[in-house]
Formats: sequence, structure tokens, C-alpha cells
Amino acid sequence: ATTLGAAAAQSGRYFGAAVAAGKLGDSTYSTILRREFNSITPENEMKWDATEPNRNSFNYTNGDRIAGQASSQGARLRGHALLWHQQQPGWAQSLSGSTLRSAMINHVTQVATHYRGQVYAWDVVNEAFADGSGGGRRDSNLQRTGNDWIEAAFRAARSADPNAKLCYNDYNTDGVNAKSTGIYNMVADFKNRGVPIDCVGFQSHLSNSVPGDYQANLARFANLGVDVQITELDISGSNQAAVYGNVTRACLAVSRCTGITVWGIRDSDSWRTGENPLLFDNSGNKKAAYTAVLDAL
Ligand code: XIL
Repeated sequence: ATTLGAAAAQSGRYFGAAVAAGKLGDSTYSTILRREFNSITPENEMKWDATEPNRNSFNYTNGDRIAGQASSQGARLRGHALLWHQQQPGWAQSLSGSTLRSAMINHVTQVATHYRGQVYAWDVVNEAFADGSGGGRRDSNLQRTGNDWIEAAFRAARSADPNAKLCYNDYNTDGVNAKSTGIYNMVADFKNRGVPIDCVGFQSHLSNSVPGDYQANLARFANLGVDVQITELDISGSNQAAVYGNVTRACLAVSRCTGITVWGIRDSDSWRTGENPLLFDNSGNKKAAYTAVLDAL
């Protein structure tokens, strides 16, 4: 195969990109998007501040543009993200307790219902675990509504869109460490108790190397009975192409690793300004990292 999406499809996987609605009119950008990728994640357009700028008043304009792009090119849509401690609208940031709890569940229900039937997988909860060696939850306004808030969110998402895969997504979880083990324990508990969860996303914002136990970490989650996905891949540094190849091979070695998403298309589209962590240069040319990925797929 000669494109990332077609090469990934040879093994039943997808290869996706994070996409910004405001760039769809850029012909260099949209040409690469349509040619190379068979999954799309909205970079910001389905976050809480974008979809519910005022309480119980929803705006799907830009999210729908992303969903429409995915549909028009036959790509999957990865919804991102129903709940996150960042990019919340101001009104949610100022709520707490049971008022925030019901607003949060309403948000999940409304947004997942709006996109029902269009979404392959939702990041239901993003980045809820703390960094460091504790292995516990991050302190946030959402966490302060009760330790069962993640479970409540997954149950609401399942009710609203029974056919979407429901994912937990986080960063610095790429190897076996305290943070990934905390999440592993939560997923094991959810599976034991029948709380709906179908997948775990590994953001994989990497700097020049990948943990030696990356594949083993993906595999231990897969062995719990969930899919695993690499959801926001970008890699800085001089070893970039080799690391991209290693990450791709690790996913392919785990049968339940169902796809890879890079967090942008050209280096100039990256949130990591100046780090050039993506597969295409600022002019849209394929980089060595692109060839490393294509060869590994
Ligand atoms: C980033 C976007 O790329 C930026 O445009 C935005 O300003 C901030 O958020 N983890 C995530 C993503 O889950 O949603 C973040 O995306 C990058 C880190």
C-alpha cells in the first residue's frame, strides 16, 4: 500500500490524524488528509468548551464539520473528549458538587446522543489520573464530585450511544509505571463489575524515545479485554523516524491495538510549536518519519 490508511487497513487497523475544522479549507492540508488518513479526531471541536459554551445550550457547528469530513472521505470518527479537566467552559469551572455532577452527566448524554451512530470510539474521560508515583486520581473539579465520576460518565455514554466504543485516554502511560498501573487497576475493576469500557487510549506524546516496555504495556491492557489505541502520537528529536517505526511495530504486534492517530498533519499544525514532531513538513512533504511508519505498517 502507498498510503498510511491503506497500509493500516491491510491488518484491519486504521491510521488517523487530529484535524482542525479551521484548516479544512487549506488545500495542502485537506489533500493530505483525504489521501493518507482513514480516521479523524477533532483536535478541539468536540471538547466541552466548544460544544456547550453556555449551560445546556449546545453548539455543534465545528464538531459537525469534522464529522462531515470524516463521513465524506469514508474515515472513522474518534470523538474527543467528553470530559476533561482542561478546556471546560467557564460556567462549568465555577460549579461544584451535585450541580456540577448533574451538569457533567447531562453534557455526556447530550453530546454522545448528538453524535450517536457517527462515532467509532469516544474518549469519554481524558487525563483523570495524576502524574508521579502515587498511581491515584488527579485532583479536579470533576474528581471532587465523587470518586465514581468516571464510572458514571461511562454509563451515561453507553446509554446515549450503545454502538460507540468507549475509551479512557491519558498521557505518560506509555510504559509500565505508577500512573499506567493506576489506570490498569481501574479498567480491571470496571471489567470485573460490568462498568462499560471498551478501549484505552495512549496519547504517546514522546520525546526521542519510547519506553522499552511500551508493547508489553499495551499488551497487559489488551489482556484485560479492551482494545488499545495510540491516540495522539507525536515524537520530537533526532531519533524521530526510528521511534515512529518502533511505536508502529509495537501496535502491530498487539492484536487488540486497533489503530494509531497522529496529533496533526504537518509540523506547522502541531500544538508542540517548534518541535517538528509530525510526519509531514511545513510544506506537506513526507518526512523520514513517514517512510518509517509506512514501512512498519
Ligand atoms: C491540544 C490541542 O492540540 C491544542 O490545539 C489546544 O490548544 C490544547 O489541546 N492532550 C489532549 C489533547 O488530550 O486534547 C490536547 O490537544 C493535547 C494534549
